[in-house]
Amino acid sequence: MASATAPGRPVPRLRGHWLLGSMAAVQADFLGAMLQAHRDLGPVVRVDVGPPGWRETIYSVSSPELASELLAAPERWTKDEPGYRELKRMGDGLLTSEGLRWRRQRRMLAPLLTPRRIGASYVPVIVEEAERVGARWRQAAEAGERVDASAEMLELTSRTIGRILFGAQMDPAVPQIMRWTDVNDEMMRRTVSPHPLPLWIPTPANRRFRRGLREMRAVVDGVVAQRRAQGSAATDDMLDLILGARDKDGTRLSDEEVTDQALVFLTAGHDTTATTLACALAELARHPELQQDVRDELDRELGGRRATAEDLPRLAVTGRFVREAMRLWPASHSLGRAPVEDEVLGGYRIPAGSSVIVFSYALHREADVWEDPDTFDPSRFDVTDPDVVRRQRAAWMVLGSGPHSCVGANLTTIETVLVLATILQHVELTTDTTAEAGPLPVHAAITLKPTGEYLLSPR
Ligand code: HEM
Repeated sequence: MASATAPGRPVPRLRGHWLLGSMAAVQADFLGAMLQAHRDLGPVVRVDVGPPGWRETIYSVSSPELASELLAAPERWTKDEPGYRELKRMGDGLLTSEGLRWRRQRRMLAPLLTPRRIGASYVPVIVEEAERVGARWRQAAEAGERVDASAEMLELTSRTIGRILFGAQMDPAVPQIMRWTDVNDEMMRRTVSPHPLPLWIPTPANRRFRRGLREMRAVVDGVVAQRRAQGSAATDDMLDLILGARDKDGTRLSDEEVTDQALVFLTAGHDTTATTLACALAELARHPELQQDVRDELDRELGGRRATAEDLPRLAVTGRFVREAMRLWPASHSLGRAPVEDEVLGGYRIPAGSSVIVFSYALHREADVWEDPDTFDPSRFDVTDPDVVRRQRAAWMVLGSGPHSCVGANLTTIETVLVLATILQHVELTTDTTAEAGPLPVHAAITLKPTGEYLLSPR
């Protein structure tokens, strides 16, 4: 257990350039450099970025026990760190808020994302949007064309969360929502720069970044203003539920909070799910035998009809496939925190105010928990031994851990399984570009992103 008084040992430091530390390595390949640091130095590592006096130090944690300990205590390990400070530029909604403000928001908003609500209101939208992609990919198959799973999934999830949140009015805004991905990339660049330039300096990158933020907020402001002008609830989408949400004392969210929450759901709700789906589709395409297992299950359980929320418990093979895709390609690769006071974690000293990350990307590749961790193998989850199940649960942190864990967990799990199931009912996937062994091309923006196109050949 951490204690504020024990001194602790210094955290092992990744060796880098004598002046710039590990700046070049981290900026060129954040995921690779940090993973290697953990493999060489252990479960808690220190990485210095930039020259002395101008340096950012990142403490990274990759052990399940230490990660759970840290994430269980949000009053001691807060979100006052560079990544979350960047995200706060969008407003202070449920993802970034803390303390009493967060508690109130979580209480009011979690009921919008229960499995029952998702099954009744959102699943029809999810399946309808996936059907559109499936039908389009069927046509591509007939024309002998390839599809880019990365771009297609970004569009699919943008359309889906847009419709879930705001009803049918979102089509014209889908391109703006999809441009969030540029903001995401730039946020990460700023997060791993020792001292990013202030945003008022009109560099091209700053201008693009500010325009992306502005456009996203404008999309939401426009819909919220229109909805308020309509008066009482005219639709039954998530925005109506946010507008109508009441705390136990009867109070509602302020206008600004409504926009902030809608923005959080819009941004957190599409990019991460798109990455998960793109990676899962690419893994399906390059593992024909595993794809066949999934297809057999879909034939058996659905027999060609549309999937519904009630089918999910029966789609165990598909579920394990998704779980494994999320393990190797965790859309939230790093969860940032900062200790309020000096802390000792796992015997290591971490000074107050440091930037700390729970680095899921390495945690999901810990050889102590995951046998042959770099191999894509969904059958690793086909186990009944309670000890193994417990260890896997503790070490699978795709959706976080502790009080701040993902409020959209049910939505994203249901969406991912249903989209794969629906698309695979239309087409079989093959690939000649991601077929080689080795990792999928991904990189670290604030969330994990596919690098370049994921070209798949439907048939
Ligand atoms: C594959 C998809 C997703 C992944 C991997 C993911 C991952 C995560 C993780 C790891 C956290 C914890 C962050 C931390 O502790 O620092 C989190 C929190 C959160 N997620 Fe998700 N998420 C996904 C989808 C969604 C969706 C669909 C929504 C909403 C519609 C959503 C909304 C949120 C919110 C609001 C929080 C903050 C919760 C709180 O602090 O109370 N996420 N997510």
